Amino acid sequence: MRKKVTVIGAGNVGATAAMRLAEKELADVVLIDILEGVPAGKALDLMEAAPIEKHDANVIGTTGDDYSPAKDSDIVIITAGIPRKPGMSRDDLLSTNMNIMDAVTKNVAAVAPNAVLIIVSNPLDAMCHVAYNASGFPKNRVLGMAGLLDSARFRTFIAMELDVSVESTHAYVMGGHGDTMVPLPRFSTVSGIPITQLIAPERIDAIVERTRNGGAEIVGLLKTGSAYYAPASAAVEMAETILKDKKKILPCSAYLSGEYGIRDLFMGVPVKLGANGVEEIIEVELTDDEKAALDHSADAVRGLVDDMKRLK
Ligand code: APR
Repeated sequence: MRKKVTVIGAGNVGATAAMRLAEKELADVVLIDILEGVPAGKALDLMEAAPIEKHDANVIGTTGDDYSPAKDSDIVIITAGIPRKPGMSRDDLLSTNMNIMDAVTKNVAAVAPNAVLIIVSNPLDAMCHVAYNASGFPKNRVLGMAGLLDSARFRTFIAMELDVSVESTHAYVMGGHGDTMVPLPRFSTVSGIPITQLIAPERIDAIVERTRNGGAEIVGLLKTGSAYYAPASAAVEMAETILKDKKKILPCSAYLSGEYGIRDLFMGVPVKLGANGVEEIIEVELTDDEKAALDHSADAVRGLVDDMKRLK
């Protein structure tokens, strides 16, 4: 039987993810948005590209609260949300996106009770909490896309620095998706060689800083909107890993129950991803400094989770 992936939010990230899913022929795709006509229009446009792109994935789009086309989806990627608008407070944004995430996740859980949820909407780790609570799904079936994107950015900058293929690079970023993320140069390599042996410390610092500001750098250039090609690629890589039960180790936001000394919090950690979603959380030994940075990041995520309780 064909696999089905539903993408909630047919905006930049959602539509790009739908395109990649279809072109890789990973699954049939259902695009859902509140905007009238937009998901159906983008779906039809993608279908009309299929003869040229040479795939037979079916892509449909629907508007509103009728989630029946998403029935029995294997994976649901949630990108729904609104960006911060001028004059909008951080709390207003958090409360709006929290309500959107709560509503769409409940709709999803009603029709696709066995799906794995991949959360993309920001603030990422906080939104994972909302989806986890609203879905009632076990913790292995709710995860967030962040670390894969951040580590892809890190890899891009390593490849640029050394003039080597991105394919030879490997990088780890842990922690929350935001200013407090924890890029780990010790675990970042070029063909197995730690970058600490290949790049001068001050250049590593510069690359780490650029990685940390990766999202903001793109927002600064685009002016209207945020990054979407790389976020969509990262979400689709996670979906592919799950659909094919590949058991890749990828950095994802996962629910921690004591791993790394952190409890009841979604945070970016290395995860073994397979058909069951998060199949294992890999615990690597951290130095005192790295652990302190991770704890600092956990405090930032916990702050958002507490804010959401206050805003409820
Ligand atoms: N149900 C379905 N779709 C919704 C809902 C809802 N309740 N509320 C908003 N949306 C839709 C919007 O109509 C819009 O089409 O979500 C889409 C979001 O798309 P964009 O504004 O283009 O944002 P995008 O760049 O795709 O980013 C989506 O991913 O990377 C994160 O920070 C980013 O949180 C943002 C999300």
